[in-house]
Amino acid sequence: MTSTTNSPENSRRTFAIISHPDAGKTTLTEKLLLTGGAIHLAGEVKARGAARRARSDWMKIEQQRGISVTSSVMTFEREGPDGETVTFNLLDTPGHEDFSEDTYRTLTAVDSAIMVIDAAKGIEPQTRKLFEVCRLRNVPIITFVNKVDREGRDPFETLDEVADMLALDVSPQTWPIGMGGEFEGVLDFATGHVARPEGGSKEFLGTFDEDPAIPERFAEQAELAQIGYPEFDAEAYRNGDLTPVYFGSALKNFGVIKLIEAIAEHAPPPRPQPAGEELIEPAHDEVTGFIFKVQANMDPNHRDRIAFMRQVSGTFKRGMKLTPSGLGKPIAIHSPILFFAQDREIADTAQAGDIIGIPNHGTLRVGDTLSEKDAIRFTGLPNFAPEILRRVQLRDPTKTKQLRKALDDLSEEGVIQVFYPELGAQHIVGVVGQLQLEVLVSRLSAEYKVEAGLEAAPFATARWVSGDEAALDEFERFNRANLARDRDGDLVFMAKSPWDVGYQEEKNPKLKFSATKER
Ligand code: G4P
Repeated sequence: MTSTTNSPENSRRTFAIISHPDAGKTTLTEKLLLTGGAIHLAGEVKARGAARRARSDWMKIEQQRGISVTSSVMTFEREGPDGETVTFNLLDTPGHEDFSEDTYRTLTAVDSAIMVIDAAKGIEPQTRKLFEVCRLRNVPIITFVNKVDREGRDPFETLDEVADMLALDVSPQTWPIGMGGEFEGVLDFATGHVARPEGGSKEFLGTFDEDPAIPERFAEQAELAQIGYPEFDAEAYRNGDLTPVYFGSALKNFGVIKLIEAIAEHAPPPRPQPAGEELIEPAHDEVTGFIFKVQANMDPNHRDRIAFMRQVSGTFKRGMKLTPSGLGKPIAIHSPILFFAQDREIADTAQAGDIIGIPNHGTLRVGDTLSEKDAIRFTGLPNFAPEILRRVQLRDPTKTKQLRKALDDLSEEGVIQVFYPELGAQHIVGVVGQLQLEVLVSRLSAEYKVEAGLEAAPFATARWVSGDEAALDEFERFNRANLARDRDGDLVFMAKSPWDVGYQEEKNPKLKFSATKER
């Protein structure tokens, strides 16, 4: 097959991997990059370099825990089903068990996801949570059941669990021939080929062993699996009603190529993005995009920030002027970090679906739209209601101003959300994962020289309140002790319990209590 050109709008597959820690995301990522020849680890290389230079406490947390608090973008290319070149943008999500908002936001910037499940363990709660975010955002999912080379649960059990817990149709595309000590390889239903660990088929499926001879009992099981579940249906998959399931082993490189082929063939290309009533298509003749992540202070000596823009439409050219919605005037993008290039240094263009890193000094905020004509505002990029709320306790009362600045900065960056209560002086911070709190305290100290502690707040969650003006006034009058303003001055109801939210919702039918806020 010779390589042909793909239309720019069709050539990208921008996706994330969601999984529980230890399911094998890192191993799978490595193997995916290897299959794509052109390995490009821009974000990671950058983060490592920065960690060497800047030993901030924040980076220390990462090092100590051996986790990556920050996400990165990895890009590789491969020939697609019709010989065209497909560019894959893999957005890494922090794999720690405390998922931060960062993870959720990364999911706003992808068009599809791979859910990795450990064959022995099944779906764990955090994976389910991420799955629900994907569903909320209409991000379709391909399932990879990993570690079939090890002793695992009955694969039928895993399939049924996915179907039940996630209320999805499951459609197995490959099947493990035995597991653990009996593992013989992976059968591809489409071709009947078997990838075997030995016998000359070191690589995965498709390339090798056409001998379908497998022990009787495994053959029967495989047949049952093939007829017992719905066939793959591209539309149902893209609607989020069905997930194709691939069994394999990231470590042994079984089933990985099949997985990447599935993404090339079935995963959606860059999708249109809502902007109010309008939908901006990738072919729209103007460069547009939105900021889904800001990574700041990679080097504390220079308050540098990289804003990550998901490109929605047009052909970006280096040096181009784009207007950020939060700024109102154009900025020239001279040194974009274009992750898709094979050579990370500088590339000159980017397409819809690509991620561009834009160095800036605080002008770009998460949720900003960037565009050439400044006429579009993307919608649907939510803030998530925090699940952990803490009061910030300043050790040195003369640092009030610095604290406010720091909290504003860090909330802008998306590390935390900040709420200023209508009554009382103590600021409240909200996060969706415990780890964010640790990051907050160490960054306050390292970068802002503010020593602060966190104490329990009498609230369990928060809801953005909006609606009828008179009803809102009345609500405010009666609930002042439970009200706060967020960084943008929007009204937030601080609830003592989920029950409290339900109670107020019932009592105030003209008001909307929202768990997400559009940025
Ligand atoms: P994560 O990023 O999702 O946290 O998982 P990671 O890839 O780090 O994998 C977690 C552990 O599972 C690693 O072992 C890894 O080698 C192992 N693993 C990943 N895929 C497979 C697989 O297909 N089969 C088997 N048998 N093991 C797999 P570890 O002992 O924690 O680390 P290491 O000593 O291998 O570095």
